[in-house]
Amino acid sequence: MGKIKFYLGEEIPLELHKAKIVQKLDLVDVERRAAAIAEAGNNTFLLKNKDIFLDMLTDSGVNAMSDNQLAAMMIADDSYAGSATFTRLTDALKDIFGTDYFLPAHQGRAAENILAVTFVKKGSIIPMNYHFTTTKAHITRLGGRVEELVIDEGIKTDSEYPFKGNFDLEKLKALIMKERDNIPFIRLEAGTNLIGGQPLSLENIKAVSAIAKENGIITVMDASLLQDNLYFIKTREEQCRNKSIREITREIADAMDIIYFSARKLGFARGGGIATNREDLYLKMRELVPMFEGFLTYGGMSVREMEAMAVGLEETMDMDVISQGPLFIEYMTRELIKNGVPVVTPAGGLGCHLNALEFIPHVRQEEYPAGSLATAVYIAGGIRGMERGTVSEQREEDGSEHLAAVELLRLAMPRRVFTLSQVKYAVDRIKWLYDNRSLIGGLRFVEEPSSLRFFFGRLEPTSDWQDRLVRKFKEDFGDSL
Ligand code: F0G
Repeated sequence: MGKIKFYLGEEIPLELHKAKIVQKLDLVDVERRAAAIAEAGNNTFLLKNKDIFLDMLTDSGVNAMSDNQLAAMMIADDSYAGSATFTRLTDALKDIFGTDYFLPAHQGRAAENILAVTFVKKGSIIPMNYHFTTTKAHITRLGGRVEELVIDEGIKTDSEYPFKGNFDLEKLKALIMKERDNIPFIRLEAGTNLIGGQPLSLENIKAVSAIAKENGIITVMDASLLQDNLYFIKTREEQCRNKSIREITREIADAMDIIYFSARKLGFARGGGIATNREDLYLKMRELVPMFEGFLTYGGMSVREMEAMAVGLEETMDMDVISQGPLFIEYMTRELIKNGVPVVTPAGGLGCHLNALEFIPHVRQEEYPAGSLATAVYIAGGIRGMERGTVSEQREEDGSEHLAAVELLRLAMPRRVFTLSQVKYAVDRIKWLYDNRSLIGGLRFVEEPSSLRFFFGRLEPTSDWQDRLVRKFKEDFGDSL
């Protein structure tokens, strides 16, 4: 993908795969969509799939699997202990990361729990380029604190900077100088999720690793979105043009003490785990696996998923496979820009990100612009995105609202799932919404859980703006869904 030039000059990504199994989708009418989002408490996590046309909530656990992954699932070796499947998975990890030890966990956040319980205590400070919701929740639950050290460019939504996920090395050095004894590890998040799937450069990863080594601090990479990050290193980092994806992966892994991941993303399956070459760290964490996850050779995962993961990890070394997501996202981002819609640039991995603060500047951050936009995009097109703004933050200890640095609506691009015409439909409905943006209002909480509120909190519109949006849709689209 990516190298194919069209004679007619069109610049579109060309799929290097074919569909063998499909799932029928329904598109319910706009009135049902408005009713469905109200039933879901204006929280897209609470929508039911039967009401959704394009599920762009996440790329987690919903990527299309390959024929080879499905075939591998058939030979999975089920046993409580010592399964051959586990050996195949650890071999695959050793092959790509060069790691000798692997602790399986049922998904990424379970790996985060093991890491946090092992290393974080009250007063701990964990420097990272940027937090992820579940990561931060585990750290703060144990009395630790997250320090975000992403470069200033990282939170600029409109930028040309190719590696917006990079650490600010000076800030890192200054923090270590001050707090060395309170820092159990540094966390590097590949394909930085909450700022728009933005990558770290290999150069920056190595520099962070060198600083950590000088100071005797452990480095931990969250590799959940590594596949997109690898694509960007290969295509955007001059010194890496001639390196293979496998070589880049190995250089990253060699610079890290620990690599953990959600295999719902990396490896296109479902599961997760922690890989390391350091026996001392492995032994420190090991006993938590049977306690929280399951025996050491499955860690709460189905062996079928583990087989699929082993194959999926290997397929991640193929540029044709890992470029599909970023190229579709780049296409969607480019089309939206052509239509004047404010999106995060440069296009990152994971999904296309609408910038809610610019899309609806009249909605105050206290009224959750990214959350409102998520409900509006759903009403406009049956498209489910994910709020990545203030709703996804936790309140401060004193109960005050922690306003997010960016208010984004993420429209995830599960890999090899959507066709280009579906992406075009999404662009069309978002453009309509943008032209009618003055109709969009805010939201307020009616039920607010104290932790990870974005998952199951319920909200309501601050006025009848959604009814007005439905009326305008019917005026403009008539009988069309
Ligand atoms: N780290 C990153 C960077 C993630 O994106 C995720 C999940 C996790 C850790 C946790 O992994 O879901 O397997 O427990 N991100 C999903 C998303 C939820 O939609 O972005 P998990």
